[in-house]
Amino acid sequence: MFSREFYEILHIIGIALMFVAIGGVAVHAANGGRKGESSTRKLVSIGHGIGALLVLVGGFGMLARIGMQHGAGFPTWLWIKIAIWLVLSAVVLIPYRKPALARPFFILLPLLAGVAVYMALYKPLV
Ligand code: HEM
Repeated sequence: MFSREFYEILHIIGIALMFVAIGGVAVHAANGGRKGESSTRKLVSIGHGIGALLVLVGGFGMLARIGMQHGAGFPTWLWIKIAIWLVLSAVVLIPYRKPALARPFFILLPLLAGVAVYMALYKPLV
């Protein structure tokens, strides 16, 4: 049985890993790099995947620790966080396909992270 704090550390390491990976792909693509040319492709995709998994394990671990019951419906703030997790899982595919979108990532993705943290802290729309 792990503590809430332990799950939060996993959650944050996962978030950091996902953003490092997405940022790496975005910078490479914005500089004209192509997927096949990247010598760090494997490292980046494994990092992004493990990051996504840690965000989930940490997030659901914390939910159990803060008293969410099995079978209870998810509140809206949580659905929004799950949607953000899905977006962060998918957007890593975009920069090589649409390099013009790689630059806006540097504004949009931190804002999305801000929304996720807002949901965790204020839990609006219960
Ligand atoms: C499946 C996706 C996710 C789930 C299930 C989830 C769940 C949770 C839960 C239950 C908490 C603790 C809330 C509390 O203690 O009252 C939390 C905290 C947090 N989440 Fe998430 N989360 C998810 C995705 C994300 C994403 C994508 C981000 C950022 C990009 C994020 C950032 C944070 C941060 C920074 C905290 C710490 C807030 C604090 O307690 O000080 N989460 N999350």
